[in-house]
Amino acid sequence: MKQLELLYEGKTKQVFLTDDPDKIILHYKDTATAFNNIKKATIENKGLLNNAISAIAFETLQNAGVATHYIEKFDERNQLCRRVEIIPLEVIVRNRIAGSMAHQLDVEEGMKPANTIYDICYKNDELGDPLMNDHHAVALGLATYEELSEIYRMSARINEVLTELFLRIDVELVDFKIEFGKTSNGTIVLADEISPDTCRLWDVESGKKLDHDRFRRDLGHVREAYEEIRARLEKITTK
Ligand code: TMP
Repeated sequence: MKQLELLYEGKTKQVFLTDDPDKIILHYKDTATAFNNIKKATIENKGLLNNAISAIAFETLQNAGVATHYIEKFDERNQLCRRVEIIPLEVIVRNRIAGSMAHQLDVEEGMKPANTIYDICYKNDELGDPLMNDHHAVALGLATYEELSEIYRMSARINEVLTELFLRIDVELVDFKIEFGKTSNGTIVLADEISPDTCRLWDVESGKKLDHDRFRRDLGHVREAYEEIRARLEKITTK
């Protein structure tokens, strides 16, 4: 597999073409950003940690029958993935109310609703990724109703599998953001990454935040939290 030119540079990852038109290389950087890129920093080795954590999450999901873009982690910072067309929606799954939802609705952070909450946001930095509903997404041509229904079905399954994975390491999956892509034959697959950058992860015993909120909220020890998640996951996944 030969790495070719840079296709796309995001806030925390780069996407490279390869000599196989159906495969891309996902390169994880050390950059941390928050508040739509207003707050930025470099956290040494974050890319390496997120690559390792995301690889374990995607392998677990694939073993549970969830279709994803992931093929393999081939070195410390790089993954080989299927090339997909990203659906410009961010799906947020909430098991507890936290972050922006707690703030906007004036609900105490950590409140556990009886139902799982699914938000869809328009993936558009200029507009600040606004929350939208299904009708908005269909009206803008971002997805069809049938595709949205598949996205919600897959999101529920992903939530089940990841909740169980994190509980095995004494971590509660409070909420997370996922993205989906379409393969050349129109199949919807999970894409992007699953890491402490994209999930709220609270230690079951202490309630300690082991995720990106340590950076967003200046809680300190960001890298140590990511290292903790990687170490606990590697302990249960390496024989
Ligand atoms: P929120 O509190 O900002 O609504 O975030 C909910 C979850 O989604 C949280 O786990 C962080 C994640 N998330 C991202 O990964 N990227 C984003 O751009 C946003 C807005 C949230």
